[in-house]
Amino acid sequence: MRIEDAKILSALPALGIERVPGASLAERTSLGIGGTTDLLLIRRHSSLPELVRLLDGAGYPHKFLGGGSNLLVRDGELPWVVLHLVKPDPDVRLEGNFAYVHASADLGRTVTFCAKHDLGGMEGLIGVPGTVGGALRMNAGAYGTQIGSFVREVELYRAATRSIVTLRGDEIHFEYRHTSFAPDDIMLAVKLELPSKPFSEILSGIRICNEKRRASQPLNQKSAGCIFKNPPGASAGRMLDELGLKGFRVGDARVSDRHANFFTNAGKATAADMFSLIETVRNRVEQTYGVKLEEEVVIWK
Ligand code: EPU
Repeated sequence: MRIEDAKILSALPALGIERVPGASLAERTSLGIGGTTDLLLIRRHSSLPELVRLLDGAGYPHKFLGGGSNLLVRDGELPWVVLHLVKPDPDVRLEGNFAYVHASADLGRTVTFCAKHDLGGMEGLIGVPGTVGGALRMNAGAYGTQIGSFVREVELYRAATRSIVTLRGDEIHFEYRHTSFAPDDIMLAVKLELPSKPFSEILSGIRICNEKRRASQPLNQKSAGCIFKNPPGASAGRMLDELGLKGFRVGDARVSDRHANFFTNAGKATAADMFSLIETVRNRVEQTYGVKLEEEVVIWK
C-alpha cells in the first residue's frame, strides 16, 4: 500500500518519521517471505498517537513490524502500511536489579548485556531470535524460561485509546505463548527485574542452552522458529516427525530435517507455498491424532 495523501506525506518529517516506499518484507523477515508496502520508521514514541490519527483519518490500515523473526507475511502488494520502531542507542539501561529496555532491543543482546553486569535469569532465552518487544507480546520462552516472569512494568501504545500507557507487571497475564495485551497494543519499553548472579555462572547456563539449540534446531536456515504451538501435554515437532513429515515440501517451503516444527524457506518459497504446507500438515495431524494444531508463528494474511 502506497501513501499518497499529501497531508500525511508532508507531516512525516516533523514527526521524525522516515518513509521507505515499496519496502520488501521478504528482506525484513527471517523467513525471507513477504510482499511490499510503504514502511514508516519511527524514532520517537511520542509521534505514534498523531501518526495513527493521520493514517486512520485517511483510511490507511497499518501493522507493526518488530524483529520479523516469528512472522509469515503474505505475498504481493500488501494491503497495509507497516510501522517500525527504530532502535535507540543505548537500548538498555540498568539500575540495581532493574533493566529498562526499549522494545526494539535485540533479545539475545539484552540477555548478554545484562549477564555482563551480573544480572541473570534469562539464560534460556539466549537463542530466541527477535526483539524484546516481540518476546514480550507473546511471552516468548525456551528451556523453562519465559520472559513474562521478569516483567515489572510495560510501556505501550494502546490503539483503543490512541495513548501511551504504563502497566504494572501484575496487571498483565502471561501464559504459554500468550499474554493479556490487546492484539493492537504496541510494546514500547519494559522494566525487567533480574536476579543477581556472577557472569561466569550465567555464561555456563547460556552455553548449555546454545548447545541444546544448535543440536536440535536448524539455526542456519531461513525459518520463523516453531510453526505450531505445542498442544497441551504433547510436542508438535514430535508428532510431525512421527508422521514422517521431515523433508516434506510445497515448492521451496519445507519441513526441516532437523526439527519437524520448523518450516524453512529452502530457496524461493512464497507465502502461498508456506500457507499450503501449514494446512497440509495441520490436516495430517488432525486425521491421525485428532488434534488441531494452532499456529505459533504470527501470520499476516
Ligand atoms: N522431537 C522429535 N522430533 C522433532 C522435534 C522434536 O522427536 O523433529 C522431540 C524431541 O526429541 C523432544 C520433544 O520432541 O523429546 C520436544 O522437542 P524440543 O525439546 O525441541 O522442544 P519443542 O517442544 O519442540 C519448544 C518450543 C521451542 C523452544 C524449545 C526449547 C514451542 C512450540 N516450541 O520446542 O520454541 O526453543 O521448546 O525450549 O513451544 C519457538 O517458539 O519458535 C520455538 C522454537
